[in-house]
Amino acid sequence: MFKLAVLPGDGVGPEIMAEALKVLMSLGKKYHLQFEISEALIGGCAYDETGTPLPSSTLDLCLESDAVLLGAVGGPKWDKLPVHLRPEAGALLPLRKELQVYANLRPAQVFTSLAGASTLKREVVEGLDIMVVRELTGGLYFGSKQREDLPGGGRRVVETLEYTTEEVERVVRIGFDMARRRGKQLTSVDKANVLESSRFWREIVESLANEYPDVELKHMLVDNCAMQLVRNPKQFDVLVTENMFGDILSDQAAQLTGSIGMLPSASLGGKTGLYEPIHGSAPDIAGQGKANPIATILSVSMMLRYGFGEDNAADALEKAVTRALDSGYRTADIMEDGKVQLNTSQMGDLIVENLGVSTGGS
Ligand code: IPM
Ligand code: MG
Repeated sequence: MFKLAVLPGDGVGPEIMAEALKVLMSLGKKYHLQFEISEALIGGCAYDETGTPLPSSTLDLCLESDAVLLGAVGGPKWDKLPVHLRPEAGALLPLRKELQVYANLRPAQVFTSLAGASTLKREVVEGLDIMVVRELTGGLYFGSKQREDLPGGGRRVVETLEYTTEEVERVVRIGFDMARRRGKQLTSVDKANVLESSRFWREIVESLANEYPDVELKHMLVDNCAMQLVRNPKQFDVLVTENMFGDILSDQAAQLTGSIGMLPSASLGGKTGLYEPIHGSAPDIAGQGKANPIATILSVSMMLRYGFGEDNAADALEKAVTRALDSGYRTADIMEDGKVQLNTSQMGDLIVENLGVSTGGS
């Protein structure tokens, strides 16, 4: 029995979560997995109901669950609130911190049948399969911040970037481990030509490298990495980097695949993992059945694989998604000429149907 905290959140969150749960239930039957599911409020809807975007009942539920499945949070309605009450800074960042999920895995994978949907040329992205490992609970996003008035007029702002040896070591190890189970190449991204924190990061990466002789290690400066990601993204297998660089590069890597609506994520390191699509709450299309549920459905697959060690169920789910796309069905965000457009729940149904199809050993 796996205990699951389900947080649909705002915008398209509830629609895509409904499809993810549909798929999860169906997989559970097939693979004899049992889930105890509890839903809770997070984000703007939690603020509206309780006055805080991360109610303590939600946090407690998450902390005592085996995994947290999150839809999306935020929307224009809550953008003007003081920062600690906003869905992103007031709920998402503290949830990650409380769960101690310091390693954020963001795969950017191009499905063969979607290679034409990328804004980059087909030959640049076809077959692309990158895993970005982003440090998620440290660095600039969590450092102390302050503003002050200057005596002569004007103001001053300070943001602090801190990392300890342990914080860097543990996430870099996840990078090496990931590379070991994939293509055996790790690129550590930093700005060591300028930043002291990056030189610190690089020294730690170097000190761990001899424990992973089977993994080919490269260091790359973040500006060069941004360029290489659009020039020749297939050179990369696993990228590991600090929080802010990872935030930026993972959006860039996601867009290589054509639609951010396809990409899942897993945040690991604590007792309970957090699984969520990379995309946001898309308030402009909320409630219209237009959202692509695949990123959330693939987040379920990451939960099964990395959270529960249920690789067979995860493989079956990923194959079902591939088959649904190969058979010519699309949601609006990935629609192309000659394909059949489905709404959110029809795509969920189609993936469930494809779970039942025999794979013929492929
Ligand atoms: C992400 C998002 C968040 C982040 C925001 C919403 C706080 O951009 O998950 O990448 O910066 O981590
Ligand atoms: Mg981001």
